[in-house]
Amino acid sequence: MAVTVRVAAGVVLALSALLALAQAEDPYLFFEWKVTYGTKNLLGKPQKVILINGEFPGPRINCSSNNNIVVNVFNQLDQPLLFHWNGIQHRKNSWMDGLLGTNCPIAPNTNFTYKWQPKDQIGTFFYFPIIGMQRAAGGYGAITVVSRLLIPVPFDPPPPESDHVVLIGDWYTKDHEVMARMLDAGRSVGRPEGVLINGKGGPDAAAAPMFTFEAGKTYRFRVCNTGIKASLNFRIQGHDMKLVEMEGSHTVQDMYDSLDVHVGHCLSVLVDADQKPGDYYMVASTRFIHDARSVMAVIRYAGSNTPPSPNVPEPPAGWAWSINQWRSFRWNLTASAARPNPQGSYHYGQINITRTIKLMVSRGHIDGKLKYGFNGVSHRDTETPLKLAEYFNVTDGVFSYNQMGDVPPAVNGPLSVIPNVITAEFRTFIEIIFENPEKSMDSLHLDGYAFFGVGMGPGKWSPELRKTYNLLDAVSRHTIQVYPRSWSAIMLTFDNAGMWNIRSNIWERHYLGEQLYMSVVSPARSLRDEYNMPDNALRCGKVVGLPMPPSYAPAR
Ligand SMILES: *[C@@H]1O[C@H](CO)[C@@H](O)[C@H](O)[C@H]1NC(C)=O
Ligand SMILES: *[C@@H]1O[C@H](CO)[C@@H](O)[C@H](O)[C@H]1NC(C)=O
Ligand SMILES: *[C@@H]1O[C@H](CO)[C@@H](O)[C@H](O)[C@H]1NC(C)=O
Ligand SMILES: *[C@@H]1O[C@H](CO)[C@@H](O)[C@H](O)[C@H]1NC(C)=O
Ligand SMILES: *[C@@H]1O[C@H](CO)[C@@H](O)[C@H](O)[C@H]1NC(C)=O
Repeated sequence: MAVTVRVAAGVVLALSALLALAQAEDPYLFFEWKVTYGTKNLLGKPQKVILINGEFPGPRINCSSNNNIVVNVFNQLDQPLLFHWNGIQHRKNSWMDGLLGTNCPIAPNTNFTYKWQPKDQIGTFFYFPIIGMQRAAGGYGAITVVSRLLIPVPFDPPPPESDHVVLIGDWYTKDHEVMARMLDAGRSVGRPEGVLINGKGGPDAAAAPMFTFEAGKTYRFRVCNTGIKASLNFRIQGHDMKLVEMEGSHTVQDMYDSLDVHVGHCLSVLVDADQKPGDYYMVASTRFIHDARSVMAVIRYAGSNTPPSPNVPEPPAGWAWSINQWRSFRWNLTASAARPNPQGSYHYGQINITRTIKLMVSRGHIDGKLKYGFNGVSHRDTETPLKLAEYFNVTDGVFSYNQMGDVPPAVNGPLSVIPNVITAEFRTFIEIIFENPEKSMDSLHLDGYAFFGVGMGPGKWSPELRKTYNLLDAVSRHTIQVYPRSWSAIMLTFDNAGMWNIRSNIWERHYLGEQLYMSVVSPARSLRDEYNMPDNALRCGKVVGLPMPPSYAPAR
């Protein structure tokens, strides 16, 4: 496979031979995870949380691009479990995406081994349990992928002294099963009771320094919003932050005094320890919801015994600020990095759009119960995962393709609650518009790809708004927020064969059906484009006991 790596000064090197050589030797990293419930007192009352090897948050997976990651998951919960590797693109390999549309759940007291590669990826991502409302009980952790040695990192020297994960997220003290039952009964889960930072909340988070600075050094913080509902504003008292990376792309390195991090989003900042030695607060606070909550952790300069100033910087107000900040994020086109999909990457603004899909968020009641969806269709999961039904050619009675149109229905009828699977022609370049007519924030995610978030704005989208798109240097990433009563637009080439989820990161919306799957099939049925189902894939529903379908054709 030819992989093009762009290096500074615009030189394009074809490293296919070199990488092919290296591929054979990509190291393996093995993890064994025991997943259990435990009790934690996070916001003043004990509650059940999901632990991985006794840890909350779960262990960090740190690797280099293309490493082979092998995670043997032992499910010791009393419920089915699946881990999803958020932002890992699983090229040719939706078999390892860990969703109910691609995988059979890992039954209690059994295990399953995930094997995946962050192929040509670098950056900051995270994993979490996908089923039900488990995500609200923890079980999440960071995935950090560093560049291979031959590809320099585009930071001014000296390199950061150290690299820290900062997982911030809203938190509820309700049990995740109680939350699921509330949603099943047509109620909302309400507002978060607090915010956690690296698994700590309330006064506990600031009780002891969480990070240490040495004056004169530079530190990298990899920040992800692992919450379920609230956008967060992230800032460090007295220190500016240099944005360097978002979800796998090196950005233009601008300075910010605070950053909005929406649910499911990740970014990296560099922070210079250039202030008077002392203690400083790192703050994450909710945005755009009533009853604002926040959490503070402490950064201590080595040897300091000066407590942090009680003057904590305020978060910005309103969302116009936030949308302007989003517009300031740009991809550093000259930064070197491995990139998936190099063909489609550099001049996306010059590719003709072959199809526009407009996904309008729908909300309605079915039998008195609240449901969310897109274009009048609320997704429901199937006992036989969609991908397995497709692979074994037994979709009859499981799902039908393309029940949802590319545009919202002219008249809002009742929502239909069905498996929502649409098809995209392999390698076509598609524009997707998200419209959120709700009063609350949305945050959308696409599996299997990075896309270009080219535009967003208030009100309804119309074709003239294409004039406002950034067709030059939008950041290639896998999430985009949609502000209340607003739209956001993305573009991408559907060149990764598989069954891929498009979903709201706002977990009650997701749980209530605001998601769909995109089936991308390579007509060549070749191993060049997609892997066969792995031997260890779990079987369930209609595919139990079926003979293995014919293998895809060899790659050449
Ligand atoms: C992450 O892994 C890379 C090598 O793959 C290593 O150089 C780096 O020090 C690791 N970082 C941390 C924080 O463990
Ligand atoms: C379960 O774990 C055992 C022991 O580590 C391993 O040999 C087996 O392959 C695992 N099962 C699956 C389905 O991954
Ligand atoms: C982009 O990356 C290049 C190459 O590493 C670096 O020299 C440059 O400073 C970066 N540009 C900006 C605006 O961040
Ligand atoms: C895009 O469409 C325009 C107008 O239809 C056409 O002239 C042009 O050749 C197309 N470009 C590509 C790259 O297909
Ligand atoms: C799938 O099954 C249908 C009958 O249910 C058959 O007509 C079709 O040829 C099959 N497709 C493949 C690729 O085997």
